[in-house]
Amino acid sequence: MTHAHITAWVVAVILLIVLLFLQKQGKNTKVLHMILRVFYLLIIGTGIVMLFGLYQITLLYILKSLLGVVLIGLFEMILVRGKKAVNTKNLWIPFVILFIVVLYLGFKLPLGFYWF
Ligand code: HEM
Repeated sequence: MTHAHITAWVVAVILLIVLLFLQKQGKNTKVLHMILRVFYLLIIGTGIVMLFGLYQITLLYILKSLLGVVLIGLFEMILVRGKKAVNTKNLWIPFVILFIVVLYLGFKLPLGFYWF
């Protein structure tokens, strides 16, 4: 399940980058944006399945999951604001920080890869 989770967020990041490029070119991004939203559900779904497979859900797991959901919120805010041509610069700083923290917590926690 960790592999499905990782695949889902890697695809989501790629879609985010592609969508930002398409937005810049003024292209219609509706369909691709809907596909990205399906990937949000896959990230959350695989995350929840891992949580329920645990013997004990610790505080770090709760923190990792909450920050993961907030990060997905930032994906969406960046895209919606980008579409309306509102400045998204102030969203990128929390996005990058949160991304690093979520990656760190994910790889620190014991399931799947255990890097830190
Ligand atoms: C874009 C958002 C997210 C990113 C980038 C992300 C990233 C990661 C990474 C890198 C791992 C480590 C995988 C491994 O060790 O094999 C992981 C594991 C995990 N994620 Fe996420 N995640 C995100 C969203 C979520 C959400 C929304 C939830 C909960 C609903 C969640 C729950 C979990 C759980 C329970 C684990 C297992 C932790 C462990 O290794 O013991 N994640 N995630």
